[in-house]
Amino acid sequence: MKKINSILSLLVLVVIMIGCGGDGDRKKSGAMATNAAERVYVAPGEHDEFYGFFSGGFSGQMSVYGLPSGRLLKVMPVFSQDAEKGYGYNEGTKPMLNTSYGFIPWGDLHHVDISQTNGELDGRWVFTHENNTPRVARIDLNTFETGEILEIPNSAGNHSFAITENTEYLIAGTRFAIPSPQRDMSIEDMKGNFKGPLTFVKIDQETGGMELAFQVIMPGFNFDLAHPGRSASHGWMFATTYNSEEANTLLEVNASQNDKDFIVALNWKKIEEYVKNGGGTMMDAEYAHNVYNHNSSTATSTMKKGVKTVDPKDIPGAVFFMPIPKSPHGCDVDPTGEYIVGSGKLAAELTVFSFSKMIKAIEDKNYDGDAYGIPILKYEDILGGIVKQPGLGPLHTEFDGKGNAYTTFFISSEVVKWSLKDYQVIDRKPTYYSVGHLMIPGGNSRKPFGKYLVAMNKITKDRYLPTGPEMNHSAQLYDISGDKMELLLDFPTIGEPHYAAGIPADLIKQNSKKIYRLDENEHEHAVRNESETRVERKGNEVHVYMTMIRSHFAPDNIEGIKVGDKVYFHVTNLEQDFDVPHGFAMIGANTAELLIMPGATKTMLWEPKRIGVYPLYCTDFCSALHQEMQGYVRVSPAGSNPELKWSLDGD
Ligand code: CUA
Repeated sequence: MKKINSILSLLVLVVIMIGCGGDGDRKKSGAMATNAAERVYVAPGEHDEFYGFFSGGFSGQMSVYGLPSGRLLKVMPVFSQDAEKGYGYNEGTKPMLNTSYGFIPWGDLHHVDISQTNGELDGRWVFTHENNTPRVARIDLNTFETGEILEIPNSAGNHSFAITENTEYLIAGTRFAIPSPQRDMSIEDMKGNFKGPLTFVKIDQETGGMELAFQVIMPGFNFDLAHPGRSASHGWMFATTYNSEEANTLLEVNASQNDKDFIVALNWKKIEEYVKNGGGTMMDAEYAHNVYNHNSSTATSTMKKGVKTVDPKDIPGAVFFMPIPKSPHGCDVDPTGEYIVGSGKLAAELTVFSFSKMIKAIEDKNYDGDAYGIPILKYEDILGGIVKQPGLGPLHTEFDGKGNAYTTFFISSEVVKWSLKDYQVIDRKPTYYSVGHLMIPGGNSRKPFGKYLVAMNKITKDRYLPTGPEMNHSAQLYDISGDKMELLLDFPTIGEPHYAAGIPADLIKQNSKKIYRLDENEHEHAVRNESETRVERKGNEVHVYMTMIRSHFAPDNIEGIKVGDKVYFHVTNLEQDFDVPHGFAMIGANTAELLIMPGATKTMLWEPKRIGVYPLYCTDFCSALHQEMQGYVRVSPAGSNPELKWSLDGD
């Protein structure tokens, strides 16, 4: 025993020595790790300090994490069907995924942005967009459910995305230049003939409702990242372009020919005014506008037509190009609105533009020629400063509100902290591996909460236990409250965590809905108590008006259904208690379960294929007698004439 004890103490000593020795990340194991663990530890029953809304990339969904713990709190379906929640499967939510191309069950969710008031996060909504079939969406942060999806016509892919500082507009730029309007033409004739529409969506300040306002028909470059001006630069927006070469093939070579591409500086207030005064022309377009009513758990999809388009050449003083080295990607505006950081992803330096110098250059009409009639500002005139030799492959920058900027470097796989005062590098920390975006809660607003930074890494490799050829992408949490950044935590993410937005939990949690009130249930087939439950036949359609409460369905025995019928189960959850959803599943239904929140109604379509007696059951473990929460449906032959009967406990 004594021997074992001394071996154990020796082992402990060795572990401590390893912990103290070595350099770089090695220091994080052993004794240091204990300290890091303390700082991300959220004790059982305690809550995180921040919400983090993470893009799910090619999963089409958005996920909610608690920070600093890295706990996954929820996956919110947006652009893809989600069988767990029945989103895009049940009758109420199917219209959310309708587009001008018909029903599309999948999307590629990219950037996320929380609504702002006076440039500060207000926690009302989180907006996002889709990179494949161009769509934008609003998620309501009282229900954590998607409330609206608007298709963006006359656009292809959708990558540059921004919310202005009073949530006046959502801006969505086409990622791929396209013929505008779309037409049958030779791809080789792209140059000068394709366009790059930048779309402005007006947001209702009360409801968050979205409405297509106008499109600025820019030259046929690809639009990459966008950010709004803030404070001094409010009313402007900035977006990077790549492929100003207008190459249509082998872009990895052909789109990297020019020494400089552009950041667009666009005065949207000026364009808004121009449109208000009758400017612009209507272009043919068709797009779906899908709105979800949380009180009825039902979405409507409306096809709309026509879009107001604006030619930037018609509005002098509204649009300019800022030249920037080599295929820029990120384009980030600091909390004061004075600095615009451009990251040329093939450049060796970081370029910082000055908004006030830009305004002066515009006033002086000091141009370096034009591109398709849009004035190009002189690089030297608008340059605020350069961060020299910061790393390789700069992508994105966020800010801590204390005069520091943090930029990710994809190729050298690191986060670099530098000063906005003197453009000097202060600190650098490796990321594992190949970091894309980073997020500081509020780091894209006037008021950042500069305590944590999350790096979102594209490649995971050896960071977790292997799970076959594919590893989940990885997020890493750094403490940035001190002079030096400290890596605290790795956690896996869902899909590609393309970008994220963080916010203090206090700005959201008190508004989070606990139940849907039964007396406010607007579903057209809702029933409010068991005495209203019934089954009705209309030709070959059968409508079942059903309720659920711990731990039974009413009715739970149904007869008189025939093969070939279309059976609609309209199921209302009568619970008025926080966190008591029930589920509903029916054998052979070609759709997902229903997952129904307290007080809500959802509808499932079931088309029985064979005669027999089939069970239905609750899928969500709701009580000690969850397993007893079940029922039967009898299916008789097609063409027979069975009596329609329903009951609960013989009644
Ligand atoms: Cu209701 Cu399980």
